[in-house]
Amino acid sequence: MNIVVVANFDSMSAEAAKIVYGQIMRKPNSVLGLATGSTPLGVYKLLVEYHNRGMDFSRVTTFNLDEYVGLGPDHPQSYRRYMHEHLFSKVNINPERTFIPNGLAEDLEAECRRYDELIRQAGGIDLQILGIGTNGHIGFNEPGTEFGSTTHVVDLAESTIRDNARFFESIDQVPTRAISMGIKSIMQAKEIILMASGGSKADAIYAAVHGPVTTAVPASVLQLHPSVTLVVDQAAASKL
Ligand code: F6R
Repeated sequence: MNIVVVANFDSMSAEAAKIVYGQIMRKPNSVLGLATGSTPLGVYKLLVEYHNRGMDFSRVTTFNLDEYVGLGPDHPQSYRRYMHEHLFSKVNINPERTFIPNGLAEDLEAECRRYDELIRQAGGIDLQILGIGTNGHIGFNEPGTEFGSTTHVVDLAESTIRDNARFFESIDQVPTRAISMGIKSIMQAKEIILMASGGSKADAIYAAVHGPVTTAVPASVLQLHPSVTLVVDQAAASKL
């Protein structure tokens, strides 16, 4: 694992955005795996700036890690809406090449299989961006998720519901289920960037990097991936 420790959120975002930039320059038809939440917001802002200076997203394909079950694309907290607001509406990406699990699918199992098949048909993910939960989750693969898992329906952990309540009016409004790419789906990406910022992530980062590889800390599986760059700020790296 290549570990890059930087001063703060802004420099973490700049480091990660530089890697995404290099990927798209090298391969304009790259397939990117994208995350939502607070962590990648600075990266998306920088990618929009790069686009305003001429970077071309027209041949890029994206697959998001996850979506809440029950939230449609127009719901303010759906990940489809998040991606639209922070990236897709601001760059020249072809909307037909932006994939996010459908949280409103009637047959959720079929939706999971469809999503895996779409990733396969796209040739797999070239570069996957990840954040990390305070409980060590990646995507919404909560502690205990099998390393062999592909896209699946997840019951969100209590801690995740609490962590994400800040985006909703009340904790009761946080969906309790999501569709998430599985650990195996994530591990099949050719290259991975794991980002973390802030002291609340320090324990999870320590366990992911130095702890045993265990399903109790889903991010620890990344120790087995041949091409991971960890980009963390000093607070998140404070226990390394
Ligand atoms: C989001 C996702 C999650 C987040 C993680 C950290 O698509 O898959 O794993 O990356 O929960 O969230 P933030 O960045 O809000 O701290």
